[in-house]
Amino acid sequence: MDSSGGLLRWSSFAFVMFVGMATVLVPGALGWSKEGHIMTCRIAQNLLGPEAAHAVEHLLPHNLKGDLSALCIWPDQIRHWHKYRWTSSLHFIDTPDKDCTFDYSRDCVKDLCVAGAIQNFTSQLLHYREGTTDRRYNLTEALLFLSHFMGDIHQPMHVGFTSDEGGNTIELHWFRHKSNLHHVWDREIILTALKDFYENDMDLLQETIEGNFTDGIWYDDVSSWKDCDDLLSCPNKYAVESINLACKWGYKGVKEGATLADDYFNSRMPIVMKRIAQGGVRLAMFLNEIFGDSEEGIASAA
Ligand SMILES: *[C@@H]1O[C@H](CO)[C@@H](O)[C@H](O)[C@H]1NC(C)=O
Ligand SMILES: *[C@@H]1O[C@H](CO)[C@@H](O)[C@H](O)[C@H]1NC(C)=O
Ligand SMILES: *[C@@H]1O[C@H](CO)[C@@H](O)[C@H](O)[C@H]1NC(C)=O
Repeated sequence: MDSSGGLLRWSSFAFVMFVGMATVLVPGALGWSKEGHIMTCRIAQNLLGPEAAHAVEHLLPHNLKGDLSALCIWPDQIRHWHKYRWTSSLHFIDTPDKDCTFDYSRDCVKDLCVAGAIQNFTSQLLHYREGTTDRRYNLTEALLFLSHFMGDIHQPMHVGFTSDEGGNTIELHWFRHKSNLHHVWDREIILTALKDFYENDMDLLQETIEGNFTDGIWYDDVSSWKDCDDLLSCPNKYAVESINLACKWGYKGVKEGATLADDYFNSRMPIVMKRIAQGGVRLAMFLNEIFGDSEEGIASAA
């Protein structure tokens, strides 16, 4: 496949640069925290069929040995670079205040939103199997963007109200420190759960999440998570779920200057964990469909 030629040139230098940038955190919350993205990608990777696993390994820089989660946060790291500034708006969707609805043609102008981005990078990756390389597209980047945005679209506050920027401008306290509502959902709930229940061991948390859909509380639901007419329309469903959850659990009862603590944490943590699980299961479904393991994809849910 001639799309791979240039990929061999991914130098370890470039990779170190990307990882180095991870520590330069940009102000304002930017999507699931690295923990949320890493778990989403690892859950997905564990569900890949052989064709998809092979394609992912082939597209990733070789020094990663096929570990997708190592670059799942790359789109956050490069979004302020000049070349990628256009991708900044691809991480979220702004919906009308208090309306609690998502409408693609109203809220995703020129396809520049997280639902449009998932469609775009999915369409690009569909060329991989045909081997019809469109030189405009870099399929390694398409894989990283798709994997990242599948996480973001499941973070409920990424489909939030316009005037408060998905909760970013709603300042409050999380237990005893300052935070904002968006960041509570990106990261605070995950970090508090890790500290209180999982000895700060992200692998243990990920395994618990996986256990809950392979043989636990979500076992009966998981095939319905994969229900969807076709890949390109699925993101709309995920965005609708997110704005509904944002209204019902995110914004509900929260005022500027509030202190959120145990009650909020205990009732919202299960939602966050389920969204990470769904993001992972659905990312795997996409990659399996795209790369030809269709028995692991949508078809199996039908
Ligand atoms: C694809 O993108 C990656 C990351 O930006 C880059 O390192 C690589 O050289 C690109 N590949 C091609 C073929 O341009
Ligand atoms: C899709 O992604 C490509 C980059 O891979 C970009 O040039 C193009 O503008 C995007 N299209 C839309 C509709 O966002
Ligand atoms: C997994 O399910 C158990 C109930 O069986 C629940 O107590 C736990 O919080 C769940 N954990 C995660 C991470 O979803």
